[in-house]
Amino acid sequence: MIQLEHLNKTYTSDRSEVEALCDINLTINDGEIFGIIGLSGAGKSTLVRCINFLEKPTGGRVIFDGKDMASLTHRELLAARRRMSMIFQGFNLLSQRTVLKNVCFPMEIEKGMSRAQITAKAMDLLRTVGLEDKADSYPSQLSGGQQQRVAIARALATDPKVLLCDEATSALDPTTTQSILSLIKKINRDMGVTVIVITHEMKVIEQICDRVAVLDNGVIAEQGSVRDVFIHPKTEISRNLILPQGEVTEFIPGERCLRLVFDGDTLLEPVISTMTLECKCRVNILFANTKIIDSKTYGQMLIQMPEDELAQERIMAFLEDKNIDFREERADGNNEAC
Ligand SMILES: Nc1ncnc2c1ncn2[C@@H]1O[C@H](COP(=O)(O)OP(=O)(O)OP(=O)(O)O)[C@@H](O)[C@H]1O
Ligand SMILES: [Mg+2]
Repeated sequence: MIQLEHLNKTYTSDRSEVEALCDINLTINDGEIFGIIGLSGAGKSTLVRCINFLEKPTGGRVIFDGKDMASLTHRELLAARRRMSMIFQGFNLLSQRTVLKNVCFPMEIEKGMSRAQITAKAMDLLRTVGLEDKADSYPSQLSGGQQQRVAIARALATDPKVLLCDEATSALDPTTTQSILSLIKKINRDMGVTVIVITHEMKVIEQICDRVAVLDNGVIAEQGSVRDVFIHPKTEISRNLILPQGEVTEFIPGERCLRLVFDGDTLLEPVISTMTLECKCRVNILFANTKIIDSKTYGQMLIQMPEDELAQERIMAFLEDKNIDFREERADGNNEAC
């Protein structure tokens, strides 16, 4: 278990002070996949680097397995870091070493294992990530997704309890992202490794995380189960992360729009077609996104209502009748719960 208590981090230089983290309180349970999401500059990388003490917090405590990280000796801190492996967006592989030698590297530093044992374990890990046939290739001969797989195998070489993933998929295309996320989920499930996923993409969170914390300007804006935060976002920042403005194409300012939330009980297709039939009007779908989380379907949809006010009333009455959550979205960003 990892506990963050009143964690603060301020970067100080001659000319300025940046308060990157402010009073962060989080508990990450053993075996879970915990997501930390926020916009660029929110403090995500700072937070993850404070967790493994690559960055020393200016205030508060990080408790890992019952021990205050600040109380560890240098040697104990290195051991704690081996139990909290990190993978990065940029993969950070050693270009002069083959794939196999990259995975061997953390075990060579650790000492205590014979060369044969190290090689056997590295081959095992390459099998886990599906790359045993690339053992003798060099990183430059691999695709981005393959390089990330090598980085994951290398991170697993020290038998970590925790995997810290800082934007591990943001340099990858959607299909490769999918396969890396599946691999992380498999490692969590089969090896019991706790995973902390840092990302700016809600879709990464939806896909693999159990719980999520939303970081905004160094502060936790909200935290909870992915389902709760996804369906009932309490803060503007969460709503923006779930429904990014840039993805809505034909937004016409002044028109009334509704954001519908499907919470796993309603089938998407029949609702919209039934609504247009029953309300005798058409709606313009500006954005739609449905997801499977834990075998349940969830989704968000932004619809533009017809100009006719009576039709608008009918639509909202219909949604209330069907128990579908909805909220009015305005072009000026001044949203009101309906
Ligand atoms: N070494 C540093 N010295 C001074 N300020 C820093 C340092 N590292 C980060 N910061 C500042 O702290 C804030 C948080 O940065 P951080 O890298 O944690 O954000 P992030 O959420 O990871 O962003 P991104 O999504 O772009 O990676 C930013 O304002 C950044 O400029
Ligand atoms: Mg970062």
